[in-house]
Amino acid sequence: MSRVSIAIFASGTGSNCENIIRYFQSSNTVCTSLVVSNKSDAPVLDKARRLGVTTKVVNKAELNDEQVMMPMLREYNVQFIVLAGFLPIIPDFMVNAFDHRMINLHPSLLPKFGGKGMWGHHVHEAVKAAGEKETGMTVHWVTPVCDGGDIIAQFRCQLSPDDTADDIAAKEHQLEMRHFPEVIEQLLS
Ligand code: GAR
Repeated sequence: MSRVSIAIFASGTGSNCENIIRYFQSSNTVCTSLVVSNKSDAPVLDKARRLGVTTKVVNKAELNDEQVMMPMLREYNVQFIVLAGFLPIIPDFMVNAFDHRMINLHPSLLPKFGGKGMWGHHVHEAVKAAGEKETGMTVHWVTPVCDGGDIIAQFRCQLSPDDTADDIAAKEHQLEMRHFPEVIEQLLS
């Protein structure tokens, strides 16, 4: 049986990207074929290269150019796309081409704290400001609506009133490390 070839898109640190690559390194079902970033100095690129995964950097114009992106994804036989901390909006041609084959990780319990401008620490600061008693992570399908696609999985953690935004981020990050690769595996096996 051939393995499902996935591409991971990421803009920054890449802890999820690294975790996913490692998780599937000896998998019979999933193979990480490509890591794509919009930032040439993103730490995720080194992490992926060190793990032997091909990396590509695309600028805004290239990301939005069907004649650039689709041949690149075809070259690596990409069948499924994982957005793991990828900040640019995905162009419609990719959303359509990967309908129900592209997922996004979001660091809150959507529909709370989602939408444009809600990423990374902005999310955790908003959770803190709202005095939430819990937060968590969401995995959802990518659609043309930012953070609006159907929810695939959510995992939650309790917060205490003393938690700072950094504490909230750390608790939520633990959930991502524990659960995100498993969600991908379940979708693809
Ligand atoms: C993750 O926490 C992910 O949930 C978040 O970016 C972080 C990437 O961290 N995604 C968003 O905020 C998307 N709106 P990483 O680069 O260490 O994996």
